[in-house]
Amino acid sequence: MASNRKVMVLPGDGIGKEVMASNMQIMDWLAKHRSLDFDVSEGLVGGAAYDAEGAPLSDETLADSIAADAVLFGAVGGPQYDDLPFEMKPERGLLALRKEMDLFANLRPAMVFAPLVAASTLRSDLVSGLDIMILRELCGGSYFAEPRGIEELPDGQKKGYDTNAYTTSEIERIGRVAFDLARKRAGRVTSVEKSNVMFSGVLWREVITALHEKEGSDIALNHMFADNCAMQLVRQPKQFDVIVTDNLFGDLLSDCAAMLTGSLGMLPSASLGAPDPETGLPQAMYEPVHGSAPDIAGQNKANPLAQLLSFAMMLRYSFGQMEEADLVEQAVDRALASGKRTGDIMSEGCELVGTDGMTRAVLDALDELAR
Ligand code: IPM
Ligand code: MG
Repeated sequence: MASNRKVMVLPGDGIGKEVMASNMQIMDWLAKHRSLDFDVSEGLVGGAAYDAEGAPLSDETLADSIAADAVLFGAVGGPQYDDLPFEMKPERGLLALRKEMDLFANLRPAMVFAPLVAASTLRSDLVSGLDIMILRELCGGSYFAEPRGIEELPDGQKKGYDTNAYTTSEIERIGRVAFDLARKRAGRVTSVEKSNVMFSGVLWREVITALHEKEGSDIALNHMFADNCAMQLVRQPKQFDVIVTDNLFGDLLSDCAAMLTGSLGMLPSASLGAPDPETGLPQAMYEPVHGSAPDIAGQNKANPLAQLLSFAMMLRYSFGQMEEADLVEQAVDRALASGKRTGDIMSEGCELVGTDGMTRAVLDALDELAR
């Protein structure tokens, strides 16, 4: 019987291909041991799509992604594409998917797995048990707002510019997601902007405050400037529960939060749209926060865990498979507890393995957990 879970798989470039291959093995395990089947289609995105199809995202791949129940994404980019015109760069494929699918809510959970406490560059007492959620607005702000471009000035210079603009409704819809997330967590939201210098930040704070009064009085809300938030993340990260912020600040702060967990190779993400009125399911894309890592691509060195944790988020948010999502996360925890480490999370006394070895460790852990 064909599965009614339609997943569009887009491995992309660099280590994206390797970590996706690892993900496919976990999917196969679930099909075999849990009868959890997926109807998988695969497509090209980023540099791989440019090479084969002449653009970083073809209309057909976009249409297939929109039609799927969920998109599983690897990573895009590579130095060989550096000189391409802006619209042909691999990243444009990813940004077009986010925009065209209206995936405005980007969930980036930074959790420290107990066996990895020592891998963080911060002191153990600061990060052990850490569990924060960065909620990044993903369809607006300086990534997309007009006007933007590079233009010639009369004096022969050039001017490059971007616009950081947010409307009331764009801020409200992300604020609502933040309050909803906090309700299922510790009930606290920190809203982050630069209202001391930016008008978009002034409006951001105003709208979040009003929404809080109207719909979020059960949530403890505080406001923080983005520079202070970066500092607080490395000073006392456990003070946060949900951090809600704009597209650009969210990009920066989530990389920062990732390192608290030991490595960028550990951070998953879910990018969600509004729930479909009929099915209740949102348009959704799941991707590891790390990039294509061209320096280690093709060498069996990539850490597949952020990809596998993104897959667990897909099971949870798109398919309601809570038990299987927990199972994958527990298997990751167990694989780490077994002492196997890829290079990015290596510490003394552990065993260095490649992408395949780490995948094997997760599969073994799944076997043990299923017993
Ligand atoms: C991320 C990445 C992307 C971004 C790049 C690859 C376009 O850094 O998802 O955080 O800037 O959003
Ligand atoms: Mg980033």
